[in-house]
Amino acid sequence: MTILITGGAGFIGHTLTRHLLAMGHTVLLLDNFNSSYDPAIKWQHIQSIRHLSGWSLYQGDIRDAVLLHQIFSAYRVDGVIHLAGLAGVRPSLQNPSAYMDHNVNGTAVLLEAMRVFNIKRFVFASSSSVYGSRSGGVFLETDCAENSVSPYAFSKRAAERLCQQHHQLHGLHVFCLRLFTVYGPQQRPDMGISRFIQQLNNRQPITLFGNGLSRRDYTYVDDIVAGISQSIERVKGCEIINLGSAHPVTLLELIGMLEQLIKRRVPINWLADQPGDVPYTHASIEKARRLLDYQPATDLKDGLRNMVNQYQRTQAYAQPIE
Ligand SMILES: NC(=O)c1ccc[n+]([C@@H]2O[C@H](COP(=O)([O-])OP(=O)(O)OC[C@H]3O[C@@H](n4cnc5c(N)ncnc54)[C@H](O)[C@@H]3O)[C@@H](O)[C@H]2O)c1
Repeated sequence: MTILITGGAGFIGHTLTRHLLAMGHTVLLLDNFNSSYDPAIKWQHIQSIRHLSGWSLYQGDIRDAVLLHQIFSAYRVDGVIHLAGLAGVRPSLQNPSAYMDHNVNGTAVLLEAMRVFNIKRFVFASSSSVYGSRSGGVFLETDCAENSVSPYAFSKRAAERLCQQHHQLHGLHVFCLRLFTVYGPQQRPDMGISRFIQQLNNRQPITLFGNGLSRRDYTYVDDIVAGISQSIERVKGCEIINLGSAHPVTLLELIGMLEQLIKRRVPINWLADQPGDVPYTHASIEKARRLLDYQPATDLKDGLRNMVNQYQRTQAYAQPIE
């Protein structure tokens, strides 16, 4: 297949590109290299796949309908995997309108261009944040997702609804994948685990929000990428599907694992809970197992070890680890 990945220069996007190329697909990447984090990191992602063949890069914006028409005229695109957008809960509170513009309007422009070119396969990266603030239980795709507590979560839910409408109105086949805290090598630098690894290695205090008992269903990027890849192959009808690990751990357990791996402890700088953050996530992955043969294979400790090793290789520490 020829597959367009929007947000292809990002953390998940470039990892997915490698996987799809290995499976024999042709991949087009579209990314605007925005400054949500250092764009040089996104260019490093691109650099890391330069030796591979079968892909092309477009530097541009999903809100640019003219550019989308150019791409869809130049290639017979079989399917689109839509990862582009502004990620992260906390920054969405500072700039809600940008989140609406990129994540909702951007999705609308993309869907409309796909309609014009009769492209029927669509996979959208939604988020576990749409489930809102819950204190327990397993998150089922049929649970209420209308009580978002951040502009980011709202924008993801609104984009899901646009996808559902395009299915009903225009026969789009779409899977909206609710991703649960994705981690692994090259994780976005603004995300928790990346920051903790950096702080531990630099012997700086770790900054934690809340009381350390919040729980997250951390999911390794290769497992997520396998789920996305199965989705673009199998997409039919309109489905919402959780992609998680189904093993939530507390923030303090996570820090303990990192301390063991890096063989270092640093003081913890406790800060108040952040508005918009949810205390708990726990994916039901039964539907993903059924529809995608999804089988998350990477244990958290192994995944963290890969991340720490990659970080230490690229940073080439001056100081020996005790
Ligand atoms: N990483 C996670 O834990 C996680 C969890 C749930 C959902 N998601 C979603 O998955 C997707 C990918 O996440 P990621 O962690 O790889 O983020 P990322 O920020 O590394 O990748 C997103 C990419 O989209 C690009 N982009 C943003 N707006 C764009 C626009 N208007 N036009 C073109 N490109 C644009 C950015 O430059 C970036 O390279 C995002 O939509 C995110 O919301 C991620």
